Amino acid sequence: MKISVLGTGMVGRAHAVRLLGLGHEVVVGTQDVDKTMARTDKDAMGNEPFSVWHSEHSSLQVMTLAKASEWGEIVVNALSGYSALTALRPLSAQLSNKTLIDISNPLDFTKGMPPTLSVSNTDSLGEQIQKALPSVRVVKTLNTLNCDLQVNPKSLRNADHDVFMSGNDAAAKADVKEILKSYGWTNIIDLGDITTSRGTEMFLPLWLSLWGTLNSPSFNIKVIAD
Ligand SMILES: NC(=O)c1ccc[n+]([C@@H]2O[C@H](COP(=O)([O-])OP(=O)(O)OC[C@H]3O[C@@H](n4cnc5c(N)ncnc54)[C@H](OP(=O)(O)O)[C@@H]3O)[C@@H](O)[C@H]2O)c1
Repeated sequence: MKISVLGTGMVGRAHAVRLLGLGHEVVVGTQDVDKTMARTDKDAMGNEPFSVWHSEHSSLQVMTLAKASEWGEIVVNALSGYSALTALRPLSAQLSNKTLIDISNPLDFTKGMPPTLSVSNTDSLGEQIQKALPSVRVVKTLNTLNCDLQVNPKSLRNADHDVFMSGNDAAAKADVKEILKSYGWTNIIDLGDITTSRGTEMFLPLWLSLWGTLNSPSFNIKVIAD
C-alpha cells in the first residue's frame, strides 16, 4: 500500500521506517524539503537532524506536505499538535476520501513545561481536524503512547496492553486496525466516533506525569474489565 507520513519528527520517522519494513511504499511529508534537509541541529528531544536520519533511510522519498498527501492512499498525521489543523486545512483536496491516521496531540508548549492542552473537555484536535476536513476519514489512534511503542508494542516486557481508536468511518477504522495489527497490536479498543478523541487526548497530562515518575517513556496502560 502507498502510505504517506506527514511529519519529520520522531513519530514520523518511527512510522516511516516501520511501514517500509512491513513492505509498504512510504513517503515522508515536510513543509519545505530543502529547509528540512538543510537543518544541522538536533531537535528539542535530542534527535539527529532529519538529513542525518534520512541518510540511513535514503529509499524514503521526502516531499512537500501537499505532494505527500496527494501521493498516499493512506496518510499518517505526525505533525505537531499545535500546527496540525493549520497545516492540514489547505490539504483538503489532496486528502479527500482518504483515511487519515491522526496521532497528533494538542500540546501547547508556548508557556513552557509541562505543556497544556490547547483544546479539551468539549472538543478535541481529532474532532477539529475531522470538522475542518469533512471529506477525510479521520481515525485517531496511538496518541497515548511513545512512538517506539506505537510501532513495536511487543517491545514492552509485558505486551498485554491496549491501544485506542476513535473515528466516524467504520471502513477507515478497519483499515487502521489492519495496520495496527501488522505493528503487533492485539488489544485494540474502538472507543466510538471521533468525539471519543477527547478522552485519549486528555490522557496526556497523566502520560506526562507517568513519564516523569517512571523516568522512561516506555510504558502503557491496560484496561481491566469484568
Ligand atoms: N513523540 C512521541 O512519542 C509522541 C507520542 C504520541 C503522540 N505524539 C504526537 O505526534 C506528533 C508528532 O510528534 P513528534 O514528536 O514526532 O514531532 P513534533 O516536533 O511534535 O512535530 C514535528 C512535525 O511538525 C511539523 N510542524 C511544526 N510546525 C509546523 C507548522 N507551523 N506547519 C506545518 N508543520 C509543522 C514539522 O514540520 P517540518 O517537517 O516541516 O519541520 C514536523 O514535521 C505530535 O502531535 C505529538 O503530540 C508524539
